[in-house]
Amino acid sequence: MADITLISGSTLGGAEYVAEHLAEKLEDAGFTTETQHGPLLDDLDPQSIWLVICSTHGAGDIPDNLQPFYDCLLEQKPDLSDVRFGAIGIGSREYDTFCGAIDKLDSALKSCGAKQTGDTLKINILEHDIPEDPAEVWLGSWKNLIK
Ligand SMILES: Cc1cc2nc3c(=O)[nH]c(=O)nc-3n(C[C@H](O)[C@H](O)[C@H](O)COP(=O)(O)O)c2cc1C
Repeated sequence: MADITLISGSTLGGAEYVAEHLAEKLEDAGFTTETQHGPLLDDLDPQSIWLVICSTHGAGDIPDNLQPFYDCLLEQKPDLSDVRFGAIGIGSREYDTFCGAIDKLDSALKSCGAKQTGDTLKINILEHDIPEDPAEVWLGSWKNLIK
């Protein structure tokens, strides 16, 4: 079992790059990691800490590759009371529904009993050309919270 499972939801690939970058940083810090792009619930180990990294598409919508996972949380209400998770959203402030997807995922995970560690980071791509940079800063504090 990996210490941390990075879960990405992405349409154009940006959130996947962020997940891969953070996995590298976590490995450098001594954690074992697994990275899953658009997993289904059954692909995930509840004993591992989940780090969800998701961009937003449409009008506050979850990317297609993570929609089945989200639907499963809403429809099946699995018991995730053993799960700890962190959350990073990527979006653009030009939309009213800024980072709407990570808000939806946070609340669906919590409604299944999962416990969030740290605050949700919301990265505005209008401010950050390279979303890996603010994500790496946030990770510096988050990894101390999960020790
Ligand atoms: C068609 C379209 C719709 C979008 N809708 C939203 C939105 O509702 N809220 C938001 O915060 N960002 C929105 N964005 C911005 C994307 O989240 C942003 O470009 C992000 O970096 C894409 O990440 P990805 O490469 O992981 O798909 C939208 C982008 C596109 C192209």
